[in-house]
Amino acid sequence: MNLKLFLLTAAVLVAASCATSDYVRPPPRKAIHFPWDAKASPDPTQVHISLAGPKHMRITWVTTDKHSPSTVEYGTSSNNYTSKAEGETTSYTYLLYSSGKIHHTVIGPLEDNTIYFYRCGGQGPQFQLKTPPSQFPITFAVAGDLGQTEWTKSTLDHIDQCKYDVHLLPGDLSYADYMQKKWDTFGELVQPLASARPWMVTQGNHEKENIPLLKDSFVAYNSRWKMPYEESNSVSNLYYSFDVAGVHTVMLGSYTDYDQSSDQYRWLKADLSKVDRERTPWILVLFHVPWYNTNEAHQGEGDEMMSAMEPLLYAAGVDVVFAGHVHAYERSKRVFNGKSDPCGAVHITIGDGGNREGLAHWYKKPHPDWSVFREASFGHGELNIVNSSHAFWSWHRNDDDEPVKSDQVWITSLSGSGCLAKKDYELRKMLLEP
Ligand SMILES: [Fe+2]
Repeated sequence: MNLKLFLLTAAVLVAASCATSDYVRPPPRKAIHFPWDAKASPDPTQVHISLAGPKHMRITWVTTDKHSPSTVEYGTSSNNYTSKAEGETTSYTYLLYSSGKIHHTVIGPLEDNTIYFYRCGGQGPQFQLKTPPSQFPITFAVAGDLGQTEWTKSTLDHIDQCKYDVHLLPGDLSYADYMQKKWDTFGELVQPLASARPWMVTQGNHEKENIPLLKDSFVAYNSRWKMPYEESNSVSNLYYSFDVAGVHTVMLGSYTDYDQSSDQYRWLKADLSKVDRERTPWILVLFHVPWYNTNEAHQGEGDEMMSAMEPLLYAAGVDVVFAGHVHAYERSKRVFNGKSDPCGAVHITIGDGGNREGLAHWYKKPHPDWSVFREASFGHGELNIVNSSHAFWSWHRNDDDEPVKSDQVWITSLSGSGCLAKKDYELRKMLLEP
């Protein structure tokens, strides 16, 4: 066999062995290069919004002008701002880098399911946002491990085409990885979407950026992506929760202490014990490192957090858990303690947003019974919660820039299943005890 034929045969065998369908996995795409220059514009940049308690929205943006005000003018008609809010600012330095002035301004009270027009800092372009509905149905777009490559851009285009209310991001945003200007370019990349719908994020390993003795972890992330932790009685931006349209969503930190003596654990227990399933029949949880993962990548990394916290999630009757980290897609049955369990959560790994590291191709064999669908492709998810009992989940593979619905399932909430009443007494007691 000549060399060319040998290489071709080897390539085909490799492709066939890692495929779960006829789809040929694409390679990583190159990083996007931005003509972005921090000094170029006096206008607000990197605008993004996030939910900030009932009927309120936090508007975040960056200016190079240190004297620019943290004012947001807003209203329901274009260029007619009937309300105004003032916010707070922060900034940070990182070795030789100095961030711009980062503004966080909370606006509201806002009407539900309503388009608002707004302007930041009294100058620059007008933006518009839509507030989420107060009742079902509500749709969440879900994509993790985004980065800023041409695949990322394509995934964002697909999310933009879907009619969604809130974006959920289970960690690994910019892949700045110590290069702080890349946080700025990421902010610009996502602005068209993140200025229009709330982006609710939690952090991954690429947000850590700690340098021993010099820099703490998550400095850039905490400065730029302030989430409603104070509004949810948390002491840390790294874990928090929020309610929207009958859904209680909990964001956890995979890289923050989670053992039973930790603040995060105590906060989670208190948070879950307050959930009223009449008011919020659905509970979603997001964190970065998956607990149920049959990919060879990052195998076992979530085990410790799982053994510490899974009993709490089970006792609370969590419906769906989203994770990232593994650059592929996987959906489980309802599971608990490593096995199928009709009263456990559905676990979905969706770290396939399109970052520069490419896909995680290799899966463990045999394929366990609890793992329903797994595929190493880029893509995004959509969770349409139709009512208090039914939700439709779909995963859209990025098939050479076409979004193709490749996995879909109806999920029924545990709140209507009878599971909550049947939960193990000790677990309920553990959840409710002070
Ligand atoms: Fe990660």
